[in-house]
Amino acid sequence: MRTQVGIVGAGPAGLLLSHLLRLAGVESVVVEARSRDYVEHRVRAGVLEQGTVDLLVASGLGERLQREGLCHRGIELRFAGRGHRIDFAALTGKAITVYGQQEVVKDLIGAALRAGSEILFDVTDVSVHDLDSPAPRVTFHRNGVPEELQCAVIAGTDGFHGVCRPSIPPGVLATFERTYPFAWLGILAAAPPSHDELIYAYHERGFALFSMRSPEVTRLYLQVAPDENIDEWSDARIWRELHTRLETDDGWRLNEGPVLEKLLAPMRSFVVEPMQYGRLFLAGDAAHIVPPTGAKGMNLAVADVSVLARALTAFFTSGREDLLEQYSATCLARVWRAEHFSWWMTSMLHRFPDGDTFQHKLQRSQLDYVVSSRAAATSLAENYVGLPLP
Ligand code: FAD
Ligand code: DHB
Repeated sequence: MRTQVGIVGAGPAGLLLSHLLRLAGVESVVVEARSRDYVEHRVRAGVLEQGTVDLLVASGLGERLQREGLCHRGIELRFAGRGHRIDFAALTGKAITVYGQQEVVKDLIGAALRAGSEILFDVTDVSVHDLDSPAPRVTFHRNGVPEELQCAVIAGTDGFHGVCRPSIPPGVLATFERTYPFAWLGILAAAPPSHDELIYAYHERGFALFSMRSPEVTRLYLQVAPDENIDEWSDARIWRELHTRLETDDGWRLNEGPVLEKLLAPMRSFVVEPMQYGRLFLAGDAAHIVPPTGAKGMNLAVADVSVLARALTAFFTSGREDLLEQYSATCLARVWRAEHFSWWMTSMLHRFPDGDTFQHKLQRSQLDYVVSSRAAATSLAENYVGLPLP
């Protein structure tokens, strides 16, 4: 097979890149290790920045998003038994939209299939070759048969555990990394949300997050130990802990319902520089990871591919190489802003196992400042709703 852009990975980054390229008249083929059903039902992110929504709508993907997405004009920070609203609309004029990542993925797959584009699901043994030549290749097995995809450029959108980043020769990439001494236990519950905006709670027993997916489904997270055994968390224990950490002095109640899904998510900050080697361009989680506290991961993936789609379009339609040469630097400026914001939110809102009372006093002071100073609240708000796409 031959195409212009070989895309490895059908997550939000790979699928949106393929979509934007198709709109610009550039050919691509997406290869994905998992099944269509698996990627359409993988429950992950839920918060879309305004810039992400605007891009999806402008590229013809807004139909269901605008109908079913929940527009939120603020969030609540909750600590010491009280909630404090951060009013995004008043502080920034912008909002966020709650719409599951797997819904974005379904919309993208639907659009690709309607346009007659092929996505090769369930492929195995994917590897990338000749990255420093003008004719790189992706090889894989489909139905047990070896196949080769010849391209001019490869997009490595295969997530943190993919094959593209490790295929870059040693010594090319610089890695910057932090791990955190905790993880998140997340549940999806068939319970109507008991509040109409997200709640980020700082509690002496650890962080808790209240979110949602629809008027019928609540999404909740708890800070737990990094090596936590999920089997030790019965539904009853999870609800007890959520009630404790989210409780307020005025008797706010969290609605319970059957637990539909449970997961553990590690917390990590990770960036490689540059996001390119020869004709391989990394985008999304393949190049960088943020801890989920700032809700930035999927939004960063979208920002990367909007830059990459523009650069590839200039390359294939007018032979311009300058935008591709600037790709990594253009993305990394935004990536590091999101890295800082996610690290900052994580550090402010979690209990550190080795944290002493000095650290706790600093965290409380920071929270008090953010909810009482318009300047501090505006800084949180403008980062949360997302800085303009590059
Ligand atoms: P992925 O979604 O990981 O997609 C990569 C794809 O490549 C996958 O389909 C994978 O199967 C495929 N693949 C892997 N290896 C191969 C291979 N060898 N060959 C072929 N295909 C391969 N982000 C936010 O913006 N907001 C949030 O609210 C938020 N909350 C989160 C909550 C949780 C619990 C988690 C885990 C993440 C959250 N994130 C959030 C992060 C977000 O989900 C990721 O940043 C996002 O999925 C990145 O998209 P991607 O396309 O780069 O990578
Ligand atoms: C969700 C996930 C996040 O990481 C976050 O910061 C906010 C919401 C969610 O899954 O709804």
